[in-house]
Amino acid sequence: MAEKRQLKLGVSIRGLGYHAGGWRHPDVPSGGAMDFEHFVNVARIAEAAKLDMVFLADGVGIRQKDEPPGSLCRSNQNVELEPITLLSALAAVTKHIGLVATASTTYNEPYHLARKFGSLDHISKGRAGWNLVTSWSDAEAFNFGREHQMAYADRYERAMEFAEVVTGLWDSWEGGAFVHDKTSGVFYDPDRLHTLAHRGKHFSVLGPLSVDRTPQGRPIIVQAGASDQGRDIAARFADIVFSAEQDLAAARAYYASVKGRLATHGRRTDELLMLPGLVPIVGATRAEAQAKHEALQELIDPLVGLSYIYGNFGDLSAYPIDGPVPEPKDPKLRSRAAVMFNLAQEKGYTIRQLCQAIASGRGHRTVIGTPADIADTMEEWVDQGAADGFNIIPTHLPVGLEDFAALVLPELRRRGIFREEYEARTFRGNLGLPEPQNRYTEARGQGTALSA
Ligand SMILES: Cc1cc2nc3c(=O)[nH]c(=O)nc-3n(C[C@H](O)[C@H](O)[C@H](O)COP(=O)(O)O)c2cc1C
Repeated sequence: MAEKRQLKLGVSIRGLGYHAGGWRHPDVPSGGAMDFEHFVNVARIAEAAKLDMVFLADGVGIRQKDEPPGSLCRSNQNVELEPITLLSALAAVTKHIGLVATASTTYNEPYHLARKFGSLDHISKGRAGWNLVTSWSDAEAFNFGREHQMAYADRYERAMEFAEVVTGLWDSWEGGAFVHDKTSGVFYDPDRLHTLAHRGKHFSVLGPLSVDRTPQGRPIIVQAGASDQGRDIAARFADIVFSAEQDLAAARAYYASVKGRLATHGRRTDELLMLPGLVPIVGATRAEAQAKHEALQELIDPLVGLSYIYGNFGDLSAYPIDGPVPEPKDPKLRSRAAVMFNLAQEKGYTIRQLCQAIASGRGHRTVIGTPADIADTMEEWVDQGAADGFNIIPTHLPVGLEDFAALVLPELRRRGIFREEYEARTFRGNLGLPEPQNRYTEARGQGTALSA
């Protein structure tokens, strides 16, 4: 019998988890976002579960607004450790798991990121990954001497050139360049050193990079952003696409669209993995899972809940929270709010219930059920060509991850679709992705083998 396709699984370990009320759960260390030991604990659970990666989303500023007033000080989305720094420390206390940090192409220079992620790959012995984002808020622009964020098209144009420069810098040194020959006194072979000399619209970068070719050939590149421009960057540079698809048909279309672009760049469809986010709420029975979900929903502070619909309804804090959802008055907000208003009408939601429905998944698909229910939907998405695996988004940490590891993973293993042990030494190797060739080595006609 043919071997079953193996799921690739990451876990997003930002802060205290993704559920808007999760930080108030009794088993969540509420100061954990600034506590290295919290992340050590979470990363070790993920590694013991043999997951492919821990993933840190990030923003370079506090993007959430105090709307309605009093909501921000009740939200846990305010402080977070700088992800590359955090992952460098986690590299020292883990051995196998991939370490992915989000970093912005708008508020960095390519040399900085090429060097930092190259260094992380050496420090972790081949486990670094960069989630390439362009940043989307004015709140971040205000921290970098700007009055507004850069225009969308400019951000993406810069991002494409940024990735060209970073990957170019990562090819500065061919494998084996450092001969360290004490007898002859030659430290490196000058024929294997290459100066990029990039001159483009956004960047002028001479190079070479002051970091040797990295253990994975180059760090893994993750891309999250579903626009046409985002898909093009993914098709050209990414190893993983992280998405927030909710619906199977839409996820299949997205999958086909990104994979369909790979050939243009001389890449095979299996050289890029599509990992949608998935929020699992799992219990031994459906009733238990539902009870866990409801208990979390109860923890959403009404003001924090209202902040999730503020952009669409304006300030509803003067309305009774357990009363009906009012029709949005402001015509500017009306069209976007219509979908939510109709949902509330259809389901008979109060304001509190509408807020809870919107806030719980934070944009990611939530599945509530038994281990078999969750495994079924994961398998279905893979079989239907909508995903190669998932980035698990725990509601609250470490509990949501512990539940997933204890309940869902045994079911996936029983079905033969998730590993018992890491297969390889590097992140890239565990993902089953080929090691990219150094462009200069390739030009000499010397190939490289699969990452081990
Ligand atoms: C699943 C997912 C995760 C994202 N994570 C981040 C993040 O951590 N930090 C960030 O600044 N933007 C993040 N973004 C935003 C994207 O990078 C991008 O700015 C946004 O999706 C708009 O671009 P698009 O029109 O190409 O989707 C994420 C987007 C998606 C879909």
